[in-house]
Amino acid sequence: MDWGMKNRFSKIIRPETGRTLMLAVDHGYFLGPTTGLENWAGAVKPLIPYCDTLFATRGMIRACIDPNTNVPIMLRASGGTSIVGKEFLHEGITCSIEDMLRMNAVGFGYSITVGMEWERDTILDFAKLVDQAERYGLIAMAVTAVGKGLGKDARYLALASRMAAEHGAHIVKTYYCEDFEKVVEACPVPIVMAGGKKIPELDALKMAHDALQKGAIGVDMGRNIFQSKDPVAMIQAVRALIHDNIKPKEAYELFKKKAKG
Ligand code: R5P
Repeated sequence: MDWGMKNRFSKIIRPETGRTLMLAVDHGYFLGPTTGLENWAGAVKPLIPYCDTLFATRGMIRACIDPNTNVPIMLRASGGTSIVGKEFLHEGITCSIEDMLRMNAVGFGYSITVGMEWERDTILDFAKLVDQAERYGLIAMAVTAVGKGLGKDARYLALASRMAAEHGAHIVKTYYCEDFEKVVEACPVPIVMAGGKKIPELDALKMAHDALQKGAIGVDMGRNIFQSKDPVAMIQAVRALIHDNIKPKEAYELFKKKAKG
């Protein structure tokens, strides 16, 4: 790994803890104004001080985030299909390496659709973008297992995550499952856990804690933060769980203490 990529890694994975809290707020690229992100800027800005990285599209970053803001950016670089379209998740490249560099991004996230009809297209496009990213020391994160009906168990997630690493991913984002340690064991690059659909705050904290115990280096969490009853309190609880190594119950107490009302 060259100096530039190491330096970018040190910006998103805190060297003191070896962990990261990425805030995933890219959902609009296929969902439009999803619940909690209707007013994207209003929802995201109060959360920025507590995250280590913002994962979003170039369009929202450019339109809504002041360039003076001190937060590392990972850009969503796949897309092109919507939740209401015929070929949902038949994604292609939506952001060039030049634009990532122009925006001073640390890297990008790209969905590979292992097990779907168009897996070949998404995996080959991801690999092409990895080739280009490596010329400039940008970090490539593969996003696995987005979509329904995939049977997101350890066997599937290990397959998808391992394939992501084999095709050049520097980080893999995947979902939590029973026997999550098998997914981590099979993947030679760091794994961050996606949060998935909204669940009660204590359950989300337990899930993130379990993922960390089983080897994830952090989370790239969205809905369980921005759809929380109190997103600012929730992100502080998730942060304490990740960086201060507290237990889920303590993190939940912190959430309740910080929550307004
Ligand atoms: C999936 O690709 C989305 O773009 C999100 O980035 C991802 O699902 C993580 O967010 P959440 O925690 O809401 O699942």
